[in-house]
Amino acid sequence: MGADSAALRGEALAAVAGAKDGEQLAALERQYLGKEGAVGQLMGALRALPPAERARAGQEANELKRAVEGALAERRAELARARLDAERSAVGFDPTLPPAPAPRGSLHPLTHVVRRLEEVFSAMGYAILDGPEVELDYYNFEALNIPADHPAREMHDTFWCDREQKLLMRTHTSPVQIRALERLKPPFRAIVPGRCFRNETTDASHEHTFHQMEGLVVGEGLTVGHLIGTMKTFLREAFRREVEVRLRPGYFPFVEPGFELDVRCPFCTDGCSVCKRSTWIELCPCGMVHPRVLKYGGVDSERYTGFAFGLGLSRLVMLRYGIDDIRHLMAADLRFLGQF
Ligand code: DAH
Repeated sequence: MGADSAALRGEALAAVAGAKDGEQLAALERQYLGKEGAVGQLMGALRALPPAERARAGQEANELKRAVEGALAERRAELARARLDAERSAVGFDPTLPPAPAPRGSLHPLTHVVRRLEEVFSAMGYAILDGPEVELDYYNFEALNIPADHPAREMHDTFWCDREQKLLMRTHTSPVQIRALERLKPPFRAIVPGRCFRNETTDASHEHTFHQMEGLVVGEGLTVGHLIGTMKTFLREAFRREVEVRLRPGYFPFVEPGFELDVRCPFCTDGCSVCKRSTWIELCPCGMVHPRVLKYGGVDSERYTGFAFGLGLSRLVMLRYGIDDIRHLMAADLRFLGQF
């Protein structure tokens, strides 16, 4: 390397490395690389050299140019980094800290339970149906074998939307049984999770808005045995262990025979407040679909039989999570909901 160009290189690189800001760098760029700059002059001087030396000197000049350009770029990046660091520390920003956790919502306990039950019943071939919450008297009562003067209506404290139009807030999910019978061709199996409404005084175990899950299975040759087998299977899956069940007779106008299905209290062995000291908990009324209901739904009751159940979802959720007051479920209190 020629002595001139070596000296120039040393000087230029040292100057660039010592530059304090962009302005100084720009000045250095002009000084060395500009048209009239030192490197430019070196290039201009090439023409005067004898051809034998010209090639080598040209190469040297080019290398010098690249070296200065590289040094300028590097110093610029260094200064930019330093500026960013200074700005960050000025506002107390530490890029090495993990990010603040994003606030995360949680699912309502009812949603957890419904999703699990939908999984269990889907696996058993059930369709998941929905129905209107504002319902006609016909579906909520009449077609379920509860005519206008039937005493069973007294059990269903009804919120009427319009008495003349016979529009009400459905008091149970059973009306969807009729809608399903009208629409689906037997054989079929379906569940209907949903909200129900009753005009009741609220307390720890009564709420004007609560949840049920209706089940309806229609086919040829179905018996009480199928009903019991189905109930045991789904309870085992829902509680993730074997649960003891018992059937007592129960009366509902739309099933015959009708039953109350009880499960052994999961909280005690010898009686507690949840099971009212009986060790049994009433969970799921059920029965064989009344032939009159099949007829209302347009299904041949000579050929087909069916069973139905009306799982008290709110009750099940309370059992599953040890919730002692049904009103928590609709209260939208984040301190409560955040626990699930
Ligand atoms: N719908 C009834 C109620 O809310 C519960 C019920 C009883 C549903 C027996 C059923 C059934 O499907 O078979 O009081």
